[in-house]
Amino acid sequence: MISENASDCYVYITLPGTTEPVTAGRFTLTMTRQGVPQGRFIYGRTYLARADAVPLDPIELKLAPRTYETVAFLGVFGALRDASPDYWGRRVIQRHLALAQPGEMAYLLHSPDDRAGALGFGLNQAPPAPKRAFNQTLDLATLQQVADAIDADEEQPSDAVHQQVENLLLVGTSMGGARPKAVVEDTEGLWIAKFNRSDDGWNSARVEHAMLVLARECGLETAESRVIEVAGRDVLLVKRFDRERTPQGYLRARMVSAMTLLRTEDTFRSRDKWSYVLLAEELRRVCSEPRHAARELFRRMCFNALISNTDDHPRNHALIARERDWQLSPAYDLTPSVPVSLDRRDLAMQCGDAGRLASAYNLLSQCPRFLLDRDDAAAMIAAMEEAVRARWYPVARTAGVSERDCRAIASAFAYPGFRHERA
Ligand SMILES: Nc1ncnc2c1ncn2[C@@H]1O[C@H](COP(=O)(O)OP(=O)(O)OP(=O)(O)O)[C@@H](O)[C@H]1O
Ligand SMILES: [Mg+2]
Repeated sequence: MISENASDCYVYITLPGTTEPVTAGRFTLTMTRQGVPQGRFIYGRTYLARADAVPLDPIELKLAPRTYETVAFLGVFGALRDASPDYWGRRVIQRHLALAQPGEMAYLLHSPDDRAGALGFGLNQAPPAPKRAFNQTLDLATLQQVADAIDADEEQPSDAVHQQVENLLLVGTSMGGARPKAVVEDTEGLWIAKFNRSDDGWNSARVEHAMLVLARECGLETAESRVIEVAGRDVLLVKRFDRERTPQGYLRARMVSAMTLLRTEDTFRSRDKWSYVLLAEELRRVCSEPRHAARELFRRMCFNALISNTDDHPRNHALIARERDWQLSPAYDLTPSVPVSLDRRDLAMQCGDAGRLASAYNLLSQCPRFLLDRDDAAAMIAAMEEAVRARWYPVARTAGVSERDCRAIASAFAYPGFRHERA
């Protein structure tokens, strides 16, 4: 039984090329005398002595025999926060613990080990064996029902609720994001199953799949996806790029979000750091192929502007390290939106001199920071605009998006304001 008041835990990591976790260090969360949560992290001596040891993240927790401290972000270091559940997983854990506000440590310790990235958490110095059995895609009908019940906050006999929450806890609450989801396995590996919600304006599973296909056509590197039908409803499967199936078990890649790389958080006050331009500079510092990473980020920013993906917040970009080196992860969570204005649309992150404005003029304004020549960048935008305009509809129809849903999302693509000269 995990104590609700635990103030420290061990941090485990599955090292590159291996499938069993080892203990990397110890994380402690306490209150300062001023009542501010403070986190401390220290690498274990045995871990530091390993020739194959890697740091938990590319910026903050360098391999060194020292105590790292932070009072930022409720005391939870970015790399650990990225391994912690987000809105959806937190909702499930709150129900499981019957607590309105479990602490950050409880969220870390109560989420299952299928979390994004290579880290794990526990109270024993020695890590537990890796999870061997995952839910199979065949189980999706049940998982969908459970997710629906939690999503609707349905009151049910307590035994049933308990059992349901227990089931759901095992299947992907530790993946981030707000949408109901579960982690499932098939012969190819692990997938994130994203369920449609009753209040979606269109068939999200098919539309998101279509956007990933369209992005690939536009030359972006994206997560692999497919849509399957479960009990008469569509479910999007997105292949996990941070896990690789091998005969010995799963290899795991380290993963940190752009939120961590930008040293920012979800609050309004820290939004001035939500920026593609700043992110490009961070990528240039930490990625093994800086020019490639900056260029790919520029293309993603343009694609998001051209499909009105205004939910492109810093948790929807990530860095992964399959081996020692860090690189931009494949693109994921690409969703169009249909704001009323046809003149002006804002992305979630700043993209140029005119702030978050999703226009070609603004995207180009800082292109040297993405290590791009202005003419090349302008040509890239023009080609992508043409591709999105010509291809979104056939791609969506081929992905099974209905005529009705296509009408609903049509105004998302290459909107008129994209070519306006000024804000
Ligand atoms: N293919 C993938 N492989 C590994 N991790 C992934 C993959 N896709 C998403 N993730 C991780 O899971 C999290 C949630 O996924 P996603 O963003 O698709 O969900 P969401 O609920 O739609 O998010 P949001 O709250 O942004 O709407 C991401 O922030 C990322 O950390
Ligand atoms: Mg997301």
